[in-house]
Amino acid sequence: MADLPHGKQGTDDLWDAMYTQRAIRYWQDKPVPRDLLEKVIESASKAPSGSNLQPWVFMVIDDAGTRKKIGGALNDFYEGGPLKDLIAQGQQVEDKSQRLMMQGAQAFFSKLADAPAMIVPCLYQLASPTPDPTSLEAGSSIYMAVQNLMLSARGLGLGTLMTTGHTLVNDTLREACAIPDDAYPVALIPIGYPDANFGPTKRKGLDEILRWNTWS
Ligand SMILES: Cc1cc2nc3c(=O)[nH]c(=O)nc-3n(C[C@H](O)[C@H](O)[C@H](O)COP(=O)(O)O)c2cc1C
Repeated sequence: MADLPHGKQGTDDLWDAMYTQRAIRYWQDKPVPRDLLEKVIESASKAPSGSNLQPWVFMVIDDAGTRKKIGGALNDFYEGGPLKDLIAQGQQVEDKSQRLMMQGAQAFFSKLADAPAMIVPCLYQLASPTPDPTSLEAGSSIYMAVQNLMLSARGLGLGTLMTTGHTLVNDTLREACAIPDDAYPVALIPIGYPDANFGPTKRKGLDEILRWNTWS
């Protein structure tokens, strides 16, 4: 598509939003008003789910102390294990977009607390299409809501980063936010005004991913 917007502005154009929703890993030091965060969560609530059971609760963490606890735990994980070396190696590869992604990943793991807010969508009271929160089918009843919230954030000029970093800081996250045992975090998504530009994303072309009627 021609003339896709670059920059930090929001957009009401669905196509512009979808085609320029980049992973944002750098944040302006500016709080996100709660009414915007509510709008983003409301857009998530419009997503489909199995039997329309809406098996979700969205934790929004904008308290600085809580962000610090979670960000600190992620940084400890990053500093204390093999991830740091892997990311350092990833920053040496030839492909520039891979290098930039690894640089961004380093920012995510070591500076998460700088994000003005975090969203942790949780599966809760899941029954359809399965009661098993660890299954792929369970994901089908919440990740569409996640995409909705990321797109609406893009529309509002807010950056997001979909991650599964919650799995690395599960105990800290549950304790810091008093998440009950029968709720299951499915993502850890920092959100804020971006200190980076939205713009066209690099993806596989239709020639590679589209099959008509038969696989071969
Ligand atoms: C399931 C999943 C897990 C991800 N985990 C991380 C992560 O741990 N750290 C990170 O920096 N980015 C993470 N990402 C973001 C991806 O790296 C990013 O969406 C992808 O590189 C495309 O980026 P782009 O939209 O800017 O092109 C994750 C994305 C998905 C969908």
